[in-house]
Amino acid sequence: MPNVDMSVTLAGVNLKNPVVVASGTFGFGREYNQFYDLGELGGICAKGLTLHRREGNPAPRIAETPMGILNSVGLQNPGVDAFIEEELPFLRQFDTKVIANISGNTPEEYGVMCEKLSGAGVDMIEVNISCPNVKAGGLAYGTRPELAAEVTKVAKAHAGKTPVMVKLSPNVTDITEIAKAVADAGADALSLINTLRGMRIDVNTGRPILKMNTGGLSGPAVLPVAVRMVWEVSCALPGMPILGMGGVSKGEDAAQLMLAGASAVAVGTALFADPYAPISVRDGLEQIAARKGLSKVSELTGGVKPW
Ligand SMILES: Cc1cc2nc3c(=O)[nH]c(=O)nc-3n(C[C@H](O)[C@H](O)[C@H](O)COP(=O)(O)O)c2cc1C
Repeated sequence: MPNVDMSVTLAGVNLKNPVVVASGTFGFGREYNQFYDLGELGGICAKGLTLHRREGNPAPRIAETPMGILNSVGLQNPGVDAFIEEELPFLRQFDTKVIANISGNTPEEYGVMCEKLSGAGVDMIEVNISCPNVKAGGLAYGTRPELAAEVTKVAKAHAGKTPVMVKLSPNVTDITEIAKAVADAGADALSLINTLRGMRIDVNTGRPILKMNTGGLSGPAVLPVAVRMVWEVSCALPGMPILGMGGVSKGEDAAQLMLAGASAVAVGTALFADPYAPISVRDGLEQIAARKGLSKVSELTGGVKPW
């Protein structure tokens, strides 16, 4: 058995291992708890929350693509109060960190949700400024540095001692510009990447496959984009804690994101094909660290040797 210390720290929060599940791909954990103890995970990013409940977008809202999927789920969720009342007590039974993910229509809505969630005792708040599937707010905040900074400031002002991690969109020309704006505004950590905007068309009918016409691309196809963006952000902001994600389905994928500069990684779309994916990613990472002779998995972070 490899003897590697798998614990990592993300914005001051200690994770027992670097593998977290990505928001929107794990619900609130109930379904996956049939397969394994959720305490095996480093952390759980819960499904994206809004101030009030949302039905999400009309179906079809998932389509397969080569090595990935397109989704336009549109933040279907029960609302922040129902999460605190019904889902958080369930998640709290497990020895893992709970990260709440929030989306607002206005900066004020982000503030209200941060106050509620910090009061309820979540371990971290992930501020989603990058959802491509909602009309109001959503991507607009994630593609304009001044708006991204404003949302970050309001979130920080209302989150008390709870660390605030801001989730960045890959749908920009230069991701470091937004990353810097958000860091200057006080973000404790960054998570990236959210999905890439994409589209599929049924050639027979001429209609887009998704009812919303476009959606967000995720899965193995996006891994190289995620690795590149994590690397760019970590070079631009040395020392900024990063949760890397996008296309991770095995230990080697996670190790690439860590070498590029991530302190921890999230597994998302891979869960749909294999609910055990986060466990095998964790074990694969441990083996890679052992093979490299590392005593701590955290030594992988930022270890890339660029040409
Ligand atoms: C069906 C689906 C729903 C998602 N919902 C959310 C969400 O509510 N909030 C969020 O920040 N990201 C959401 N995401 C984005 C993921 O958390 C992740 O950033 C992205 O899918 C890339 O990782 P992956 O390739 O491992 O899935 C969603 C992704 C998928 C596929």
